[in-house]
Amino acid sequence: MGCGGSKEESNSFSVTSSSSRGEAHPEYDMLLKILVIGDSGVGKSCMLLRFADNRFTDSYISTIGVDFCIRTIELDGKKIKLQIWDTAGQERFKTITTSYYRGAHGLIIVYDITSMDSFNSIKRWLIDVDRFASPSVLKLIVGNKCDLNNKRAVDFKVAKKFSDEYNIPILETSAKDSTGIDDAFTRLAADIKKSNPVNK
Ligand code: GTP
Repeated sequence: MGCGGSKEESNSFSVTSSSSRGEAHPEYDMLLKILVIGDSGVGKSCMLLRFADNRFTDSYISTIGVDFCIRTIELDGKKIKLQIWDTAGQERFKTITTSYYRGAHGLIIVYDITSMDSFNSIKRWLIDVDRFASPSVLKLIVGNKCDLNNKRAVDFKVAKKFSDEYNIPILETSAKDSTGIDDAFTRLAADIKKSNPVNK
């Protein structure tokens, strides 16, 4: 499933600011790259589709390799352009997807609140993050599909305890009914902005 964003790839880690580009009328003040990872079917593509295009689809078309969406948000009066990379959860794409970790400023690790397996996989995803991402990458854990509370398999208290142990913030979202989607991306962007001394 794609968001239809135009391809604009750069794998450098530095946060690009308008002043560093020397532009008088910048399209944005800061460009941040966010990578979304997690097991196949947890709803990564739907989260991006909701955030970038305010749409949802019930059909499941597994992502092949990587795709990306763009949305510009405003934080403290600054235009922050988010380039959000959607990765395939399927193991067979791992070589491709992990090659994108290094350039990311932020990482969202998604599980499905109706699937204990997808929650248990987070540990494995975090091992990949340690191996392939920059040590300074900021992380967020997201429990998606919270509209399916009647099918819940992962108690939020259990997930919160896990995220506290790893010192990673957590929140629940629903790409279907929009709960928490803007919050998730905005929160991670704000954390990245704060952690960058030039942009405090
Ligand atoms: P891969 O591309 O294989 O890694 O999967 P993915 O994580 O991108 O999953 P995708 O977004 O394609 O969603 C998988 C299925 O879950 C689809 O049928 C979606 O409609 C459904 N889905 C995604 N998000 C939600 C949600 O918040 N609530 C509900 N009820 N269903 C969702």
